[in-house]
Amino acid sequence: MPTQKSTETHEEVAEEKEVSDQESEEITSAQKKFGIESIPDRYEPWEDEGVFHFAYSIVQGWATVVDIIRCWELWDLVHQTAHLEGALLEVGCWNGGSGGIIGLAAKKAGIRDTTFLCDTFSGTVKGNNVDAGYVDDGAFSSASKKLVERVLFGLQVSNYKILEGIFPEETGYLLGDSRIRFCHIDVDTYQSAADTYEWVWPRLVVGGILVYDDYGYLVTPGISKHVNEIRHGEDRISMYNLNEHAVLIKTK
Ligand SMILES: C[S@@+](CC[C@H](N)C(=O)[O-])C[C@H]1O[C@@H](n2cnc3c(N)ncnc32)[C@H](O)[C@@H]1O
Repeated sequence: MPTQKSTETHEEVAEEKEVSDQESEEITSAQKKFGIESIPDRYEPWEDEGVFHFAYSIVQGWATVVDIIRCWELWDLVHQTAHLEGALLEVGCWNGGSGGIIGLAAKKAGIRDTTFLCDTFSGTVKGNNVDAGYVDDGAFSSASKKLVERVLFGLQVSNYKILEGIFPEETGYLLGDSRIRFCHIDVDTYQSAADTYEWVWPRLVVGGILVYDDYGYLVTPGISKHVNEIRHGEDRISMYNLNEHAVLIKTK
């Protein structure tokens, strides 16, 4: 997915798209009038968020496979849970990139509850024939708890706990009776997503947000299948953001 602003001049764009001379002149004079040298591809709300930029530049490339658009959405949604109660949870933290973004967003938003980062640290689990690219377990087995700690240290986030093992059956109990305000599920397989959902939904506070990574991604059809099974209901609003996120908000 492109994440950079276009540096093409209007003339170059016009040439490619065969815009008429008159249209081209009108747009060029508007550009001059407003002092715009080039027109960005799209609005990028993170442009003015220095701390988010700092965080993403630290994790990009080695600590996360989640792109800037989805990381921004996590960042923004965590901020919107600041008035709620409950812990933050990520299932599938791998090397800690997206989890670090969640933890730093919570810190910036003044949230005092802990961010829990869960992973087997031996790769994906529970793959079956609905999981296309993830039928065989063990993808992302390169994850390391030490790297997660380094990422969180680099981001200056200390209010977090790493839970190692299969969630929820091996580590869910470590959250005790915590309620959840925000959860990011990034587990790649149908059954892992479904089991995590069954554990999280009853603990999610009203107004709480559940974000699934990989919804609509062709390599992880198990995630789309699971989300499609649970996304409708009178206690929830769900949306498909076309960035491979599905977002659910608990309404009652
Ligand atoms: C795509 S990676 C996560 C990427 C990460 N969020 C990032 O920032 O790049 C998926 C991870 O989910 C983990 N995982 C899958 N099912 C799990 C489960 N039931 N419990 C704990 N971890 C799980 C895998 O070990 C793998 O590291």
